[in-house]
Amino acid sequence: MDKILVHGGRKLRGSIRVSGSKNSALPILAAALLTRDTCVIRGVPDLSDIHYMLTILSHLGCEVERASGVVSIRADKIRTEASYDLVRKMRASVCVLGPLLGREREACVALPGGCVIGDRPIDLHLLGFEALGAAVRVTGGNVKVFATRLRGGSVNMCGTHGTTVLGTDNVMMAAVLAEGVTEIHGAAEEPEVVDLANFLKAMGARIHGAGTSHLMIEGVKELHGADYTVIPDRIEAGTMLVAGAIAGEKLTVRRLRPDHLESVITPLRTAGFQIETETDAVTISPGEKSSPLHLETTPYPGFPTDMQAQMCALLVRTPGESVITDHVFPQRFMHVAELSRMGAQIRLEAPTAFITGNGRLSGAPVMASDLRASAALLLAGLAAEGVTEINRVYHIDRGYERIDEKFNFLGAHIERVKA
Ligand code: EPU
Repeated sequence: MDKILVHGGRKLRGSIRVSGSKNSALPILAAALLTRDTCVIRGVPDLSDIHYMLTILSHLGCEVERASGVVSIRADKIRTEASYDLVRKMRASVCVLGPLLGREREACVALPGGCVIGDRPIDLHLLGFEALGAAVRVTGGNVKVFATRLRGGSVNMCGTHGTTVLGTDNVMMAAVLAEGVTEIHGAAEEPEVVDLANFLKAMGARIHGAGTSHLMIEGVKELHGADYTVIPDRIEAGTMLVAGAIAGEKLTVRRLRPDHLESVITPLRTAGFQIETETDAVTISPGEKSSPLHLETTPYPGFPTDMQAQMCALLVRTPGESVITDHVFPQRFMHVAELSRMGAQIRLEAPTAFITGNGRLSGAPVMASDLRASAALLLAGLAAEGVTEINRVYHIDRGYERIDEKFNFLGAHIERVKA
Protein backbone atom coordinates (compact mmCIF):
# COMPACT_ATOMS: atom_id res chain seq x y z
CA MET A 1 0.00 0.00 0.00
CA ASP A 2 1.32 3.46 -0.91
CA LYS A 3 2.50 5.82 1.80
CA ILE A 4 2.86 9.56 1.77
CA LEU A 5 5.81 11.22 3.49
CA VAL A 6 5.31 14.88 4.30
CA HIS A 7 8.51 16.76 5.10
CA GLY A 8 7.21 19.58 7.29
CA GLY A 9 8.25 23.18 7.55
CA ARG A 10 8.16 24.28 3.89
CA LYS A 11 6.24 27.45 3.05
CA LEU A 12 3.54 27.28 0.38
CA ARG A 13 3.24 30.09 -2.15
CA GLY A 14 1.86 30.68 -5.62
CA SER A 15 -1.41 29.61 -7.15
CA ILE A 16 -3.19 26.37 -7.83
CA ARG A 17 -6.35 25.29 -9.69
CA VAL A 18 -9.15 23.31 -8.13
CA SER A 19 -10.45 20.16 -9.88
CA GLY A 20 -14.08 19.40 -10.68
CA SER A 21 -16.30 18.47 -7.76
CA LYS A 22 -16.30 14.80 -6.74
CA ASN A 23 -19.63 15.09 -4.94
CA SER A 24 -21.25 16.76 -7.97
CA ALA A 25 -19.75 14.38 -10.50
CA LEU A 26 -20.86 11.19 -8.71
CA PRO A 27 -24.66 11.75 -8.85
CA ILE A 28 -24.38 13.49 -12.23
CA LEU A 29 -22.70 10.40 -13.71
CA ALA A 30 -25.48 8.26 -12.21
CA ALA A 31 -28.10 10.59 -13.71
CA ALA A 32 -26.89 9.63 -17.20
CA LEU A 33 -28.86 6.39 -16.57
CA LEU A 34 -32.04 8.42 -17.06
CA THR A 35 -31.73 8.63 -20.86
CA ARG A 36 -30.87 6.36 -23.80
CA ASP A 37 -28.99 9.27 -25.42
CA THR A 38 -25.32 10.00 -24.90
CA CYS A 39 -24.40 12.38 -22.07
CA VAL A 40 -21.06 14.17 -22.05
CA ILE A 41 -19.84 15.26 -18.63
CA ARG A 42 -16.82 17.52 -18.37
CA GLY A 43 -14.53 18.48 -15.51
CA VAL A 44 -14.79 15.00 -13.98
CA PRO A 45 -11.87 14.57 -11.56
CA ASP A 46 -9.55 11.58 -11.84
CA LEU A 47 -10.33 9.90 -8.51
CA SER A 48 -10.87 6.36 -7.35
CA ASP A 49 -14.48 7.14 -6.28
CA ILE A 50 -15.20 8.26 -9.85
CA HIS A 51 -13.60 5.07 -11.13
CA TYR A 52 -15.90 2.99 -8.87
CA MET A 53 -18.96 4.84 -10.16
CA LEU A 54 -17.95 4.30 -13.79
CA THR A 55 -17.37 0.60 -13.05
CA ILE A 56 -20.89 0.36 -11.60
CA LEU A 57 -22.37 2.17 -14.62
CA SER A 58 -20.51 -0.18 -17.02
CA HIS A 59 -21.83 -3.14 -15.09
CA LEU A 60 -25.36 -1.74 -15.41
CA GLY A 61 -24.89 -1.81 -19.20
CA CYS A 62 -23.70 1.73 -19.95
CA GLU A 63 -21.11 2.39 -22.64
CA VAL A 64 -18.55 4.56 -20.88
CA GLU A 65 -15.68 6.47 -22.46
CA ARG A 66 -13.27 8.64 -20.53
CA ALA A 67 -10.46 10.94 -21.66
CA SER A 68 -8.80 13.69 -19.61
CA GLY A 69 -11.71 14.83 -17.49
CA VAL A 70 -14.42 14.21 -20.11
CA VAL A 71 -16.70 11.23 -19.61
CA SER A 72 -19.27 10.16 -22.14
CA ILE A 73 -21.99 7.72 -21.12
CA ARG A 74 -24.61 6.00 -23.25
CA ALA A 75 -27.16 4.05 -21.25
CA ASP A 76 -29.08 2.48 -24.10
CA LYS A 77 -29.89 -0.95 -22.69
CA ILE A 78 -29.47 -1.21 -18.96
CA ARG A 79 -29.73 -3.71 -16.13
CA THR A 80 -31.22 -2.74 -12.81
CA GLU A 81 -29.14 -4.76 -10.34
CA ALA A 82 -25.84 -3.92 -8.68
CA SER A 83 -24.23 -6.47 -6.34
CA TYR A 84 -22.45 -5.97 -3.02
CA ASP A 85 -19.04 -6.54 -4.64
CA LEU A 86 -19.67 -3.56 -6.87
CA VAL A 87 -21.15 -1.10 -4.38
CA ARG A 88 -19.35 -1.88 -1.13
CA LYS A 89 -16.36 0.33 -1.88
CA MET A 90 -18.33 3.53 -2.03
CA ARG A 91 -21.41 4.86 -0.25
CA ALA A 92 -22.31 7.11 -3.18
CA SER A 93 -23.18 4.03 -5.23
CA VAL A 94 -26.67 4.26 -3.66
CA CYS A 95 -27.37 7.15 -6.00
CA VAL A 96 -28.00 4.78 -8.91
CA LEU A 97 -31.23 3.76 -7.12
CA GLY A 98 -33.13 6.95 -8.02
CA PRO A 99 -32.38 7.02 -11.76
CA LEU A 100 -32.99 3.26 -12.16
CA LEU A 101 -36.33 3.57 -10.38
CA GLY A 102 -37.22 6.64 -12.47
CA ARG A 103 -36.42 5.04 -15.80
CA GLU A 104 -37.07 1.31 -15.33
CA ARG A 105 -39.50 1.48 -12.40
CA GLU A 106 -37.25 -0.95 -10.51
CA ALA A 107 -33.80 -1.23 -8.96
CA CYS A 108 -32.04 -3.75 -6.76
CA VAL A 109 -28.80 -2.51 -5.22
CA ALA A 110 -26.76 -3.96 -2.36
CA LEU A 111 -26.69 -1.79 0.75
CA PRO A 112 -23.19 -0.36 0.99
CA GLY A 113 -22.72 -1.16 4.70
CA GLY A 114 -20.87 0.60 7.51
CA CYS A 115 -18.74 3.66 7.20
CA VAL A 116 -15.93 4.93 9.36
CA ILE A 117 -17.40 8.44 9.63
CA GLY A 118 -20.47 7.10 11.42
CA ASP A 119 -23.86 5.56 10.90
CA ARG A 120 -25.07 6.22 7.35
CA PRO A 121 -28.62 4.97 6.94
CA ILE A 122 -30.68 5.47 3.75
CA ASP A 123 -34.11 5.52 5.40
CA LEU A 124 -34.85 9.01 4.06
CA HIS A 125 -34.02 7.97 0.48
CA LEU A 126 -36.44 5.06 0.84
CA LEU A 127 -39.13 7.27 2.41
CA GLY A 128 -38.87 9.49 -0.66
CA PHE A 129 -39.26 6.56 -3.07
CA GLU A 130 -42.30 5.39 -1.13
CA ALA A 131 -43.80 8.87 -1.41
CA LEU A 132 -43.60 8.40 -5.21
CA GLY A 133 -45.60 5.18 -4.90
CA ALA A 134 -42.70 2.72 -4.99
CA ALA A 135 -42.53 -0.37 -2.81
CA VAL A 136 -39.33 -0.98 -0.86
CA ARG A 137 -37.97 -4.34 0.32
CA VAL A 138 -34.71 -4.91 2.16
CA THR A 139 -33.63 -8.56 2.01
CA GLY A 140 -30.33 -10.40 1.89
CA GLY A 141 -28.37 -7.16 2.20
CA ASN A 142 -30.03 -5.70 -0.90
CA VAL A 143 -32.55 -2.94 -1.22
CA LYS A 144 -35.16 -3.47 -3.90
CA VAL A 145 -37.44 -0.63 -5.02
CA PHE A 146 -40.15 -1.08 -7.61
CA ALA A 147 -43.32 0.52 -8.85
CA THR A 148 -45.88 -0.21 -11.52
CA ARG A 149 -46.71 3.50 -11.64
CA LEU A 150 -44.41 6.18 -10.32
CA ARG A 151 -46.40 9.32 -9.49
CA GLY A 152 -45.61 12.65 -7.93
CA GLY A 153 -45.78 12.86 -4.13
CA SER A 154 -44.67 14.97 -1.21
CA VAL A 155 -41.79 14.10 1.12
CA ASN A 156 -39.74 15.71 3.86
CA MET A 157 -36.03 14.86 3.67
CA CYS A 158 -35.12 16.04 7.20
CA GLY A 159 -33.96 13.46 9.72
CA THR A 160 -32.33 13.65 13.15
CA HIS A 161 -29.11 15.12 11.72
CA GLY A 162 -30.77 17.46 9.26
CA THR A 163 -31.39 16.97 5.57
CA THR A 164 -29.69 14.45 3.29
CA VAL A 165 -27.67 15.34 0.20
CA LEU A 166 -27.71 12.03 -1.70
CA GLY A 167 -31.25 11.36 -0.46
CA THR A 168 -32.43 14.62 -2.06
CA ASP A 169 -30.49 13.69 -5.23
CA ASN A 170 -31.98 10.22 -5.36
CA VAL A 171 -35.59 11.32 -4.94
CA MET A 172 -35.10 14.16 -7.44
CA MET A 173 -33.67 11.70 -10.00
CA ALA A 174 -36.63 9.33 -9.60
CA ALA A 175 -39.19 12.17 -9.63
CA VAL A 176 -38.06 13.73 -12.93
CA LEU A 177 -39.64 10.79 -14.78
CA ALA A 178 -42.64 10.27 -12.45
CA GLU A 179 -46.19 11.22 -13.46
CA GLY A 180 -47.22 14.58 -11.99
CA VAL A 181 -45.63 16.93 -9.49
CA THR A 182 -43.29 15.97 -6.63
CA GLU A 183 -42.57 18.28 -3.73
CA ILE A 184 -39.44 17.76 -1.66
CA HIS A 185 -39.53 19.65 1.64
CA GLY A 186 -36.42 19.99 3.76
CA ALA A 187 -34.31 19.43 0.63
CA ALA A 188 -30.54 19.73 0.81
CA GLU A 189 -29.36 23.11 -0.50
CA GLU A 190 -25.76 22.11 -1.25
CA PRO A 191 -24.21 23.48 -4.48
CA GLU A 192 -23.76 19.85 -5.59
CA VAL A 193 -27.55 19.32 -5.42
CA VAL A 194 -28.03 22.47 -7.50
CA ASP A 195 -25.43 21.18 -9.97
CA LEU A 196 -27.30 17.90 -10.35
CA ALA A 197 -30.58 19.80 -10.82
CA ASN A 198 -28.93 21.93 -13.52
CA PHE A 199 -27.68 18.81 -15.30
CA LEU A 200 -31.16 17.25 -15.13
CA LYS A 201 -32.65 20.48 -16.47
CA ALA A 202 -30.14 20.37 -19.34
CA MET A 203 -31.56 16.87 -20.04
CA GLY A 204 -35.10 18.28 -20.22
CA ALA A 205 -36.24 17.88 -16.60
CA ARG A 206 -38.52 20.46 -14.95
CA ILE A 207 -37.19 21.34 -11.52
CA HIS A 208 -37.95 24.48 -9.52
CA GLY A 209 -36.39 25.71 -6.29
CA ALA A 210 -32.95 24.07 -6.52
CA GLY A 211 -30.73 25.68 -3.88
CA THR A 212 -33.68 26.15 -1.50
CA SER A 213 -35.24 23.70 0.94
CA HIS A 214 -38.37 23.30 -1.20
CA LEU A 215 -38.04 21.55 -4.57
CA MET A 216 -40.90 21.18 -7.04
CA ILE A 217 -40.41 18.66 -9.82
CA GLU A 218 -42.83 18.28 -12.71
CA GLY A 219 -42.35 14.83 -14.16
CA VAL A 220 -41.72 14.51 -17.91
CA LYS A 221 -42.10 11.47 -20.19
CA GLU A 222 -38.46 11.23 -21.19
CA LEU A 223 -35.13 12.98 -20.94
CA HIS A 224 -32.50 13.54 -23.60
CA GLY A 225 -28.69 13.65 -23.65
CA ALA A 226 -26.77 16.72 -22.46
CA ASP A 227 -23.27 18.16 -22.48
CA TYR A 228 -22.44 19.52 -19.03
CA THR A 229 -19.48 20.73 -16.96
CA VAL A 230 -19.45 20.04 -13.21
CA ILE A 231 -18.75 22.83 -10.71
CA PRO A 232 -15.34 23.21 -9.02
CA ASP A 233 -14.80 21.16 -5.88
CA ARG A 234 -15.52 23.51 -2.95
CA ILE A 235 -14.10 21.05 -0.41
CA GLU A 236 -10.81 20.69 -2.30
CA ALA A 237 -10.75 24.50 -2.54
CA GLY A 238 -11.45 24.82 1.20
CA THR A 239 -8.72 22.28 1.97
CA MET A 240 -6.24 24.31 -0.12
CA LEU A 241 -7.22 27.49 1.73
CA VAL A 242 -6.66 25.81 5.08
CA ALA A 243 -3.27 24.63 3.77
CA GLY A 244 -2.56 28.28 2.98
CA ALA A 245 -3.59 29.18 6.54
CA ILE A 246 -1.38 26.47 8.04
CA ALA A 247 1.72 26.77 5.88
CA GLY A 248 1.25 29.55 3.37
CA GLU A 249 3.01 32.83 2.74
CA LYS A 250 0.51 33.89 0.11
CA LEU A 251 -1.55 31.29 -1.66
CA THR A 252 -4.12 31.78 -4.40
CA VAL A 253 -6.67 29.09 -5.08
CA ARG A 254 -8.11 29.42 -8.59
CA ARG A 255 -11.05 28.01 -10.54
CA LEU A 256 -13.41 28.03 -7.60
CA ARG A 257 -16.71 29.63 -6.65
CA PRO A 258 -16.08 31.98 -3.69
CA ASP A 259 -19.85 32.09 -3.01
CA HIS A 260 -19.78 28.33 -2.31
CA LEU A 261 -17.07 28.86 0.31
CA GLU A 262 -18.45 31.65 2.48
CA SER A 263 -18.85 29.37 5.49
CA VAL A 264 -15.14 28.50 5.28
CA ILE A 265 -13.81 31.96 4.36
CA THR A 266 -15.69 33.71 7.20
CA PRO A 267 -14.12 31.65 10.03
CA LEU A 268 -10.68 31.89 8.38
CA ARG A 269 -11.06 35.69 8.47
CA THR A 270 -12.23 35.51 12.10
CA ALA A 271 -9.14 33.42 12.87
CA GLY A 272 -7.05 36.36 11.64
CA PHE A 273 -6.12 35.48 8.04
CA GLN A 274 -6.27 38.01 5.24
CA ILE A 275 -8.49 36.86 2.44
CA GLU A 276 -9.11 38.52 -0.89
CA THR A 277 -11.76 37.19 -3.24
CA GLU A 278 -12.05 37.60 -7.01
CA THR A 279 -14.71 36.17 -9.33
CA ASP A 280 -13.11 32.73 -9.47
CA ALA A 281 -10.14 32.92 -7.11
CA VAL A 282 -9.39 33.39 -3.40
CA THR A 283 -6.04 34.47 -1.96
CA ILE A 284 -5.10 33.78 1.65
CA SER A 285 -2.17 35.28 3.52
CA PRO A 286 -1.22 35.45 7.20
CA GLY A 287 -2.70 38.23 9.34
CA GLU A 288 -1.25 40.00 12.36
CA LYS A 289 -2.88 37.81 14.97
CA SER A 290 -4.41 34.37 15.07
CA SER A 291 -7.53 33.62 17.09
CA PRO A 292 -9.17 30.36 18.16
CA LEU A 293 -12.59 29.49 16.75
CA HIS A 294 -15.90 27.98 17.81
CA LEU A 295 -17.38 26.09 14.86
CA GLU A 296 -20.43 23.91 14.33
CA THR A 297 -21.04 21.89 11.20
CA THR A 298 -24.51 22.07 9.68
CA PRO A 299 -25.91 21.42 6.21
CA TYR A 300 -25.21 24.08 3.55
CA PRO A 301 -24.97 27.05 3.79
CA GLY A 302 -23.50 26.23 7.23
CA PHE A 303 -19.91 25.20 7.91
CA PRO A 304 -19.43 21.83 6.11
CA THR A 305 -18.74 18.57 7.89
CA ASP A 306 -16.37 17.81 4.99
CA MET A 307 -14.09 20.64 6.27
CA GLN A 308 -14.25 19.76 9.97
CA ALA A 309 -11.11 17.58 10.11
CA GLN A 310 -9.01 20.03 8.08
CA MET A 311 -10.08 22.90 10.35
CA CYS A 312 -9.05 20.81 13.39
CA ALA A 313 -5.57 20.55 11.83
CA LEU A 314 -5.40 24.34 11.69
CA LEU A 315 -6.78 24.95 15.18
CA VAL A 316 -4.39 22.56 16.95
CA ARG A 317 -1.68 25.12 16.08
CA THR A 318 -3.72 28.23 16.87
CA PRO A 319 -3.05 29.49 20.42
CA GLY A 320 -6.15 29.46 22.63
CA GLU A 321 -9.14 27.20 23.15
CA SER A 322 -11.11 26.21 20.06
CA VAL A 323 -14.26 24.12 19.92
CA ILE A 324 -15.66 22.19 16.93
CA THR A 325 -19.00 20.37 17.02
CA ASP A 326 -20.06 18.10 14.14
CA HIS A 327 -23.86 17.93 14.05
CA VAL A 328 -24.00 16.23 10.65
CA PHE A 329 -21.76 13.24 11.42
CA PRO A 330 -21.36 13.29 15.23
CA GLN A 331 -18.81 10.43 15.20
CA ARG A 332 -16.57 11.85 12.47
CA PHE A 333 -13.46 12.34 14.62
CA MET A 334 -11.08 9.55 13.56
CA HIS A 335 -8.40 12.18 12.88
CA VAL A 336 -8.32 13.27 16.54
CA ALA A 337 -6.32 10.31 17.84
CA GLU A 338 -3.85 10.61 14.94
CA LEU A 339 -3.42 14.37 15.39
CA SER A 340 -2.83 13.71 19.10
CA ARG A 341 0.06 11.40 18.10
CA MET A 342 1.59 14.44 16.41
CA GLY A 343 1.35 16.45 19.64
CA ALA A 344 -2.09 18.01 19.31
CA GLN A 345 -4.07 18.60 22.49
CA ILE A 346 -7.66 17.65 21.82
CA ARG A 347 -10.31 16.42 24.23
CA LEU A 348 -13.07 14.61 22.45
CA GLU A 349 -16.63 14.44 23.74
CA ALA A 350 -18.37 13.50 20.51
CA PRO A 351 -19.94 15.37 18.78
CA THR A 352 -17.54 18.03 20.11
CA ALA A 353 -13.75 18.39 20.02
CA PHE A 354 -12.19 20.79 22.54
CA ILE A 355 -8.84 21.91 21.16
CA THR A 356 -6.07 23.58 23.13
CA GLY A 357 -3.88 25.12 20.47
CA ASN A 358 -0.24 24.76 21.35
CA GLY A 359 1.46 25.94 18.20
CA ARG A 360 3.69 22.89 17.78
CA LEU A 361 3.32 19.55 16.02
CA SER A 362 5.93 16.90 15.36
CA GLY A 363 5.96 14.45 12.47
CA ALA A 364 4.94 10.87 13.27
CA PRO A 365 3.69 7.75 11.51
CA VAL A 366 -0.09 8.13 11.29
CA MET A 367 -2.97 6.20 9.79
CA ALA A 368 -5.46 7.68 7.34
CA SER A 369 -8.96 6.49 8.24
CA ASP A 370 -11.21 8.31 5.78
CA LEU A 371 -10.96 10.90 3.08
CA ARG A 372 -11.16 14.15 5.04
CA ALA A 373 -9.28 12.75 8.04
CA SER A 374 -6.37 11.93 5.70
CA ALA A 375 -6.45 15.44 4.30
CA ALA A 376 -6.23 16.77 7.87
CA LEU A 377 -3.15 14.63 8.55
CA LEU A 378 -1.50 15.87 5.39
CA LEU A 379 -2.22 19.49 6.35
CA ALA A 380 -0.87 18.91 9.86
CA GLY A 381 2.23 17.30 8.32
CA LEU A 382 2.92 20.44 6.27
CA ALA A 383 3.43 22.38 9.48
CA ALA A 384 4.95 19.69 11.70
CA GLU A 385 8.62 19.43 12.58
CA GLY A 386 10.15 16.43 10.82
CA VAL A 387 8.49 13.82 8.66
CA THR A 388 4.86 12.70 8.85
CA GLU A 389 4.32 9.25 7.37
CA ILE A 390 0.71 8.78 6.28
CA ASN A 391 -0.35 5.19 5.76
CA ARG A 392 -3.42 3.93 3.86
CA VAL A 393 -3.30 6.85 1.45
CA TYR A 394 -5.89 5.26 -0.82
CA HIS A 395 -8.38 7.18 1.31
CA ILE A 396 -6.97 10.49 0.12
CA ASP A 397 -6.94 9.36 -3.53
CA ARG A 398 -10.70 8.79 -3.29
CA GLY A 399 -11.34 12.51 -3.19
CA TYR A 400 -8.29 14.64 -4.00
CA GLU A 401 -6.85 14.65 -7.50
CA ARG A 402 -3.02 14.46 -7.36
CA ILE A 403 -2.95 16.32 -4.05
CA ASP A 404 0.75 15.56 -3.45
CA GLU A 405 1.71 16.99 -6.86
CA LYS A 406 -0.45 20.08 -6.28
CA PHE A 407 1.14 20.82 -2.89
CA ASN A 408 4.65 20.16 -4.23
CA PHE A 409 3.95 22.65 -7.01
CA LEU A 410 3.25 25.19 -4.26
CA GLY A 411 6.55 24.46 -2.50
CA ALA A 412 5.77 21.51 -0.22
CA HIS A 413 8.01 18.44 -0.01
CA ILE A 414 5.74 15.41 -0.20
CA GLU A 415 6.87 11.99 -1.39
CA ARG A 416 4.65 9.13 -2.42
CA VAL A 417 6.30 5.85 -1.64
CA LYS A 418 5.07 2.86 -3.65
CA ALA A 419 4.79 -0.24 -1.56
N1 EPU B 1 -29.01 10.43 7.15
C1 EPU B 1 -30.09 9.76 7.69
N2 EPU B 1 -30.90 9.05 6.85
C2 EPU B 1 -30.70 9.00 5.50
C3 EPU B 1 -29.60 9.69 4.95
C4 EPU B 1 -28.77 10.40 5.82
O1 EPU B 1 -30.31 9.78 8.89
O2 EPU B 1 -31.48 8.36 4.79
C5 EPU B 1 -28.13 11.20 8.04
C6 EPU B 1 -26.67 10.74 7.97
O3 EPU B 1 -26.44 9.64 8.83
C7 EPU B 1 -25.93 12.00 8.41
C8 EPU B 1 -26.80 13.12 7.80
O4 EPU B 1 -28.08 12.53 7.58
O5 EPU B 1 -25.93 12.10 9.80
C9 EPU B 1 -26.28 13.71 6.53
O6 EPU B 1 -25.98 12.70 5.58
P1 EPU B 1 -26.16 12.87 4.03
O7 EPU B 1 -27.18 11.89 3.55
O8 EPU B 1 -26.39 14.30 3.68
O9 EPU B 1 -24.75 12.40 3.48
P2 EPU B 1 -24.51 11.78 2.06
O10 EPU B 1 -25.48 12.38 1.10
O11 EPU B 1 -24.45 10.30 2.15
C10 EPU B 1 -22.88 13.58 1.14
C11 EPU B 1 -21.43 13.64 0.74
C12 EPU B 1 -20.56 13.52 1.97
C13 EPU B 1 -20.91 14.66 2.92
C14 EPU B 1 -22.41 14.61 3.27
C15 EPU B 1 -22.86 15.78 4.12
C16 EPU B 1 -21.43 12.71 -1.49
C17 EPU B 1 -21.01 11.62 -2.40
N3 EPU B 1 -21.14 12.57 -0.19
O12 EPU B 1 -23.06 12.30 1.73
O13 EPU B 1 -19.23 13.69 1.52
O14 EPU B 1 -20.16 14.54 4.11
O15 EPU B 1 -23.18 14.64 2.05
O16 EPU B 1 -22.58 16.98 3.52
O17 EPU B 1 -21.98 13.70 -1.93
C18 EPU B 1 -16.90 13.42 1.59
O18 EPU B 1 -16.85 13.94 0.45
O19 EPU B 1 -15.89 13.23 2.29
C19 EPU B 1 -18.20 13.02 2.12
C20 EPU B 1 -18.32 12.14 3.11
